[in-house]
Amino acid sequence: MKQEIQNNFSLKNYNTFGIEAKAKQFVAVQSVDELKTILEQNKLEQKFILGGGSNMLLTKDIEALVIHIDLKGKKIISENEDFVWVECKAGENWHEFVLWTIDQDFGGLENMSLIPGNVGTTPVQNIGAYGTEIKDTFVSCEALSLEEQETKTFTKEECHFGYRESIFKNEAKDRYIITSVVFILTKRNHKINTSYGDITNELAKNNISTPSLKEVSNAVIAIRKSKLPDPKELGNSGSFFKNPILLKSDFAKIHQQFPEMKYYDISETEVKVPAGWLIEQAGFKGKRFGNAGVHENQALVIVNYGNATGQEVLDVSKNIQETILNKFGIQIEAEVNII
Ligand code: EPU
Repeated sequence: MKQEIQNNFSLKNYNTFGIEAKAKQFVAVQSVDELKTILEQNKLEQKFILGGGSNMLLTKDIEALVIHIDLKGKKIISENEDFVWVECKAGENWHEFVLWTIDQDFGGLENMSLIPGNVGTTPVQNIGAYGTEIKDTFVSCEALSLEEQETKTFTKEECHFGYRESIFKNEAKDRYIITSVVFILTKRNHKINTSYGDITNELAKNNISTPSLKEVSNAVIAIRKSKLPDPKELGNSGSFFKNPILLKSDFAKIHQQFPEMKYYDISETEVKVPAGWLIEQAGFKGKRFGNAGVHENQALVIVNYGNATGQEVLDVSKNIQETILNKFGIQIEAEVNII
């Protein structure tokens, strides 16, 4: 099937913030061959790769050829008694993929249920939730270089994963299109991780003491639904900011001034401070500024009440950043890609 390139294409339905912005040109590709053809035929065009559109804020029209990665399919590529290696194409919806693994009784992804977006973008920011990150089950991913259209396999080590970080946000930024990802999952002796407080409480509420993969997934879904707005109802991109990481020596001074500040030790020398707490303490939780605002149940999430422009959302985020810097002396960084 030949894909048509469309001009002046609205991206409103292709970003979970629901922001109206136009692509100069747009095409959706359903196979790697199609993707190669599009790249070859449009060598000189500026290109912009679009996955699930769940981690970006569009503040302007995109003066480029937007290529939407719509590659579908998943398969078991290897297995033994204990483990299975599953390859999933980039365009599969992440949550549907997670539910499929749970239906097969494959363990490892259950804590990351209901995260919006597509499989191909999960390595880019090493998505994570409730004590688990993609890097814990990631084996490798296949990517196509934009320039030479060569396929390259990135191993886990080569991805340089960190907290919401990877090579694809740094050295390899804008140079590769991830086309599929391989995960290693457990077939038995699942490593159920319910240590995160919210999960412990949710399971206790339902009197579950030895949860199955499905029960962990259901607990995560219930927690996320109670705190995080559904992008179909209220445009958003999940956490707008990263939780800031501070040197313990710097944090000690701030903590003296704000002894009630929450924090988690993450290494010998560093602590992570929940940005949601800082934003709530600064009085932003549930506050609305015109068409955009801060979510009432989770201060880390900025929402579009319907007709917000990307600029309006950006203004809210800048206001938050400045206020937090002035009040606590802490710089918080956007997690979302600002386009
Ligand atoms: N908090 C507040 N007020 C708020 C929100 C949070 O005081 O409005 C406090 C909570 O009381 C808690 C702490 O902040 O003590 C942490 O809150 P929570 O467990 O809700 O997690 P988070 O740090 O706000 C991170 C991820 C989420 C992920 C959750 C659960 C980042 C940037 N965000 O949020 O990921 O679902 O942990 O693991 O790391 C996302 O990246 O889009 C995302 C939703």
